[in-house]
Amino acid sequence: MADIAIVGAGHVGVTYAAGLAALGHRIRVLDIDGARLAKLRRGKLWFFEPGLAELLTRGIARRRISFTTRYRIALKGVQFVFVCVSTPTTPDGSLDDSSIRSAFDQIKAHAGNPPPIVINKSTVPVGTGDAALQIFAQTDIKVVSNPEFLSEGRAVEDFFRPNRILIGSRDREAARLVANLFRPLHRRIVLTDSATAEVAKLASNAFLATKISFANAFARIAEEVGADVDELSRTLSLDPRIGPGHLTVGLGFGGSCLPKDIAAVEQLARRFGASYELFAAVATINREQRRRIIDFLLKTWGAIAGRRIGVLGLSFKPNTDDTRESPAVALVEELVAHRADVCVYDPAVRSAVRGATTVRTALAAARRADALIVATDWPEFRSLDLARLNGTMRGNVLIDARGVWDAARARELGFTYYSYGRGGSPRGTS
Ligand code: UGA
Repeated sequence: MADIAIVGAGHVGVTYAAGLAALGHRIRVLDIDGARLAKLRRGKLWFFEPGLAELLTRGIARRRISFTTRYRIALKGVQFVFVCVSTPTTPDGSLDDSSIRSAFDQIKAHAGNPPPIVINKSTVPVGTGDAALQIFAQTDIKVVSNPEFLSEGRAVEDFFRPNRILIGSRDREAARLVANLFRPLHRRIVLTDSATAEVAKLASNAFLATKISFANAFARIAEEVGADVDELSRTLSLDPRIGPGHLTVGLGFGGSCLPKDIAAVEQLARRFGASYELFAAVATINREQRRRIIDFLLKTWGAIAGRRIGVLGLSFKPNTDDTRESPAVALVEELVAHRADVCVYDPAVRSAVRGATTVRTALAAARRADALIVATDWPEFRSLDLARLNGTMRGNVLIDARGVWDAARARELGFTYYSYGRGGSPRGTS
């Protein structure tokens, strides 16, 4: 059993605190936000993540997890420090590593003896591992890069059953000690150097973003030639060289990771004079998905102003209340900019979009609407009764931007249905 500090009580930090405590370790969680910690201390999350509050509560009840805002307390006697702080995007697309650097400085100032191994989990600018070595040069603190691959909405499952654990360090002994923490999970552990680990994280997210934009680009072609995008994605998935996942056509990718990382990779390629066009195109295709809905509405109605539009879903994906870089939010903002009367429902998001009305049920969003748009594929939207929606709406435009409904049934009911290459046409005929 080890004593472990976790710096950053965000999605990754809290998941690791709860997960490592379940594996028997004693955890101290540090965050500069005292209010956030007060909530966590009561076993309450400040974000939405299925199963995590229960795991956290169990760890707290067993006295394996404590919280503090002070480095001196957090680092006292610990063998490992996980750094899980955020790295937002700067205006030029690169990653802002100021929180990480400040965490490293604080760790250097407050680390005890024997010195801990610092494990970086944040997505960082390539070279951060080497920069950390310089920061800790006059100390015996060792640095290991251990990028995180968990997805929001399935963080607990991803902690206990990761498809790989990537550990990068120049120091083989430090890497081995960190690997030992994860051995009870019985998952594949890859040992490498820190630069490879850092690039692998960016490459992984860039590839996922590319897969999504690839599928979305094909949806455009499929639409024109009358091919079915879901059949197309399924067929692609069956080839192990392509692999399943991240091929579902829709409104595009959002969240705090994929958009940020594709921008970081583009910026990195530009910096080294390498081909950046692929990464730029991935982002462009992603933005176009929203534009195609606006175009569809304009073609159908001539103008959007004054139309009442219900939007189902605001989070960037289901099972989270996270709206960072959410394509659903961007779509609502565009509709508001077109002076539509927008009514939004999301099962978990409590924040509102300026200019739009927030309602508490899907049916309320559909009431008297000229068009209804599914922007996030929350499971509850799949089971909505289309006939009932038809009865409550005043118009008949149904935009299934996540492919959750049966296109044939929607048309039978008299809807003008559009869903990126799912048998509809961007020109509004069906
Ligand atoms: C992503 C990666 O999947 C994780 O492996 C990684 O650890 C994480 O970023 C991170 O860097 O922290 P996440 O952002 O939680 O995880 O979400 P994803 O499930 O990858 O979905 C991202 C976006 O792509 C969502 O907006 C989703 O709706 C969209 N998406 C996903 C599609 O449009 N089509 C798909 O087929 C899959």
